[in-house]
Amino acid sequence: MKVIHSIHELELARAQLGDAQVGLVPTMGALHPGHLSLVEIARKLTDVVVLSIFVNPLQFGPEEDYARYPRPLQQDLEACEKAGVEIVFNPGVNDLFPAARQVSVQAGSLGAVFEGASRPGHFDGMLTVVLKLLNLVQPTIALFGRKDAQQLASVKRMVTDLNVDVEIVPAPIVREADGLAMSSRNQYLSPPDRQSAQALWRALKAASGEVTASAARRTALEVLDQAALDNPNFVLDYAEVVDPDTFAVLDDEDSGPALLAAAALVGTTRLIDNVELTLA
Ligand code: PAJ
Repeated sequence: MKVIHSIHELELARAQLGDAQVGLVPTMGALHPGHLSLVEIARKLTDVVVLSIFVNPLQFGPEEDYARYPRPLQQDLEACEKAGVEIVFNPGVNDLFPAARQVSVQAGSLGAVFEGASRPGHFDGMLTVVLKLLNLVQPTIALFGRKDAQQLASVKRMVTDLNVDVEIVPAPIVREADGLAMSSRNQYLSPPDRQSAQALWRALKAASGEVTASAARRTALEVLDQAALDNPNFVLDYAEVVDPDTFAVLDDEDSGPALLAAAALVGTTRLIDNVELTLA
């Protein structure tokens, strides 16, 4: 496994790969089985897997956890080696974002709702780094988890709107034994908050069989409101039925595939999750 820290080295390594099918797995590190499931899918579909580890300052708000975001690099490299990653790209911040930088990607209206409403600028910063990684690695496919459903939708939109020559492959959500979606941020939760965090998945699962938007929302809110009553540290941000591509809110007139997406602040940790619905 090659571990590459500079853009120049990456360009050399990429040139050596020639026409090989390359799969890119962009991450911010603190790797868990959710990330590694993306590697596994990429390995099945391509010849060479490149995993990037970069905690992207552009996608964190001023009050967010950029400084304290976990960075266990040695452990991550061991996990990559075991998972069969060929190249780890771990650039420095100044390397990817030199001071003279001016131009960035704008997510548009998709970046202004839900996660974007709570985290202004998040999707612009995320898309800017993802486009740079796609340009540098020139992969055949790039893997994105369905846990971050609005991120997945934004990346697909960018690839279409900017004619980026890559296939975006979505990966299923990997969960803990109790259903909580795996996240590098789960380690911030205190034991009682970790317990309340389960309510997110319990609510989504309970609603997953509903066939109208209002019933799905109502069923989920019953569980979520109870969680907030049981633990004042559990503060719901949203639970809404949306179009998986545009994140437009759906109502009882709508039918077909939909997502029930939810976010909560549990203590100081923001958690997101979603489940697929089929509206009739
Ligand atoms: P990060 O949070 O490290 O996640 C990297 C990838 O792993 C994302 O595609 C995310 O959706 C996926 N992932 C995380 N937890 C998952 C789980 N439990 N099940 C399935 N997939 C999961 O998302 C980012 O980093 C950044 O925004 C990034 C795309 C790297 C740009 O900076």
